Amino acid sequence: APAQSVPAQQPVAAAIAARPAGKLVIIYASQTGNAKGVAQALKEEADAAGIAAELFAASDYKGKNLAKETHAIIVASTHGEGEAPDDAIELHEFLQSKKAPKLPNLQYAVIGLGDSSYEFFCQTAKDFDAYLGKLGAKPMLDRLDCDVDYDAPAAEWRAKALDKVAETIGGDEAEVVQLPVGQSAASVSYTKQKPYEASLLLSQKITGRSSGKDVRHVEIDLEGSGITYQPGDALGVWYDNDPALAKAVAAKVGLTGEEPVEVDGSATSLLNALVNSYEITAANPQLVTRFAELSGSKKLEKLVADKDKLREYAANTQVVDVLGEKKTTLSAEQLSGLLRRLTPRLYSIASSQEEVGEEVHLTVGLVEYDKGQETRQGGASSYLAQRLEEGGNVKVFVEENKHFKLPEDDNTPVIMIGPGTGIAPFRAFVQERENRDAEGKNWLFFGDRTFTEDFLYQVEWQKYLKSGVLSQLDVAFSRDQAEKVYVQHRLLEHAAGVWQWLQDGAHLYVCGDANRMAKDVHDALVTIAEQQGQYSREQAEQYFNELRKSKRYQKDVY
Ligand code: 2AM
Repeated sequence: APAQSVPAQQPVAAAIAARPAGKLVIIYASQTGNAKGVAQALKEEADAAGIAAELFAASDYKGKNLAKETHAIIVASTHGEGEAPDDAIELHEFLQSKKAPKLPNLQYAVIGLGDSSYEFFCQTAKDFDAYLGKLGAKPMLDRLDCDVDYDAPAAEWRAKALDKVAETIGGDEAEVVQLPVGQSAASVSYTKQKPYEASLLLSQKITGRSSGKDVRHVEIDLEGSGITYQPGDALGVWYDNDPALAKAVAAKVGLTGEEPVEVDGSATSLLNALVNSYEITAANPQLVTRFAELSGSKKLEKLVADKDKLREYAANTQVVDVLGEKKTTLSAEQLSGLLRRLTPRLYSIASSQEEVGEEVHLTVGLVEYDKGQETRQGGASSYLAQRLEEGGNVKVFVEENKHFKLPEDDNTPVIMIGPGTGIAPFRAFVQERENRDAEGKNWLFFGDRTFTEDFLYQVEWQKYLKSGVLSQLDVAFSRDQAEKVYVQHRLLEHAAGVWQWLQDGAHLYVCGDANRMAKDVHDALVTIAEQQGQYSREQAEQYFNELRKSKRYQKDVY
């Protein structure tokens, strides 16, 4: 009998080894790649700890298989109105449906990535947590809802989660399968944590002299970096804050900027920290809440009591103006304790490498508004438009976006809707389709304030129309006439044409403002399906839901 072949002094180890080893599945629901990054790190750490782990995109994981798993960790991002990332729609739907299996043998944990400036903060993670709990799975540890500067808290949570997995996974270490670490160590890759130091080739204003907006065409040199990207991807840009603003922020709370502080274990001055390490332009609800407590400002305390008002205020007020609400003296540590760490901004790439080779182009709208006598500007956009000089260095990395991709089949028609700086990825799309000699038709909808001042890349679109690369171009200039005309009005005017293209298998892309534009455009599309397809409102919504699932309706909205 096998028992007799086991040395007598090791009965316990033998018993453990005989127990079937569990396995950890790591499932990520990622829109822009952040959740995928966290999931990959978790997988590498599990490998290093000798825990058998498998990594899946939510779209590649069959929900019913969860019934066979012992341990699962879900990493989920949330976007816009609390929607699940495109990749995860099916799993998300499945787990809340009647088809979902009971999961009494599953131990699980969920980590969410989101932005607390939004109402539906980490909603997708909350949903997954609730669905799994309802199906009888047992949480190994509390869900963590991470805010935009998630690196450190996510790393800490991963360590705790893996400890829990290791405690309960069954089998001893010798029995656990060691899986190979990492995938493509060979290819050069620059990441958020390890960006490439590129140089700025050009930053040129492309709105007219009397435009109300300052939009820049930015060209960045990637020569020798080996960096590659696809149309639809985004470029992450690390930026420095304006030193004058950093000084003003310090001064608001009675500091000079010369105070010593520590960042990541190194000593530096407060001013340096404010310029290089902290977010000092965009405010956020936590900052407002904490400053309300520190300052005792009646106005802020009132806002804190009303979540909607608080979010709206935080989204429209810069840090320096929050601190200006009530005269308060803080220490350097108190000030830095209020602030989030600086995070890079993502810009949709406006070029195709087929066209521009080792360069990357962006379309950057300078965020700017008046506050009393002063002008407030966005941190990254003012850096790219003003503080960074041509020839200067800028740290960048490519953020893949597989949810915003041209159809693989070059014969497939595409409809692109991109008002304002939402035009950026479509410049990349059209450059790519031209260089590939794609046969599929291209229809572009563009909108902005005025024809003479705000028609971004006008000359290029006219060239593409002439050469036939663009089959159709429809523009809406909202301030050229008394009544507002927006891209969605153009869509409705061309309802029959749009519907016909969709019947012919067109892919539909929307890029730009998420708050109003993308919703109004979606509404117009649903109306078109109602009218042209003789659908009920609900059927029309369902039609676009199906398009989304089959990746024929993709959005890059912010
Ligand atoms: P407006 O500012 O004149 O109202 C790019 O910023 C363009 O988007 C501008 O012409 C802007 O118009 C327009 N825009 C504003 N709200 C919109 C909405 N809900 N739908 C579509 N376009 C909109």
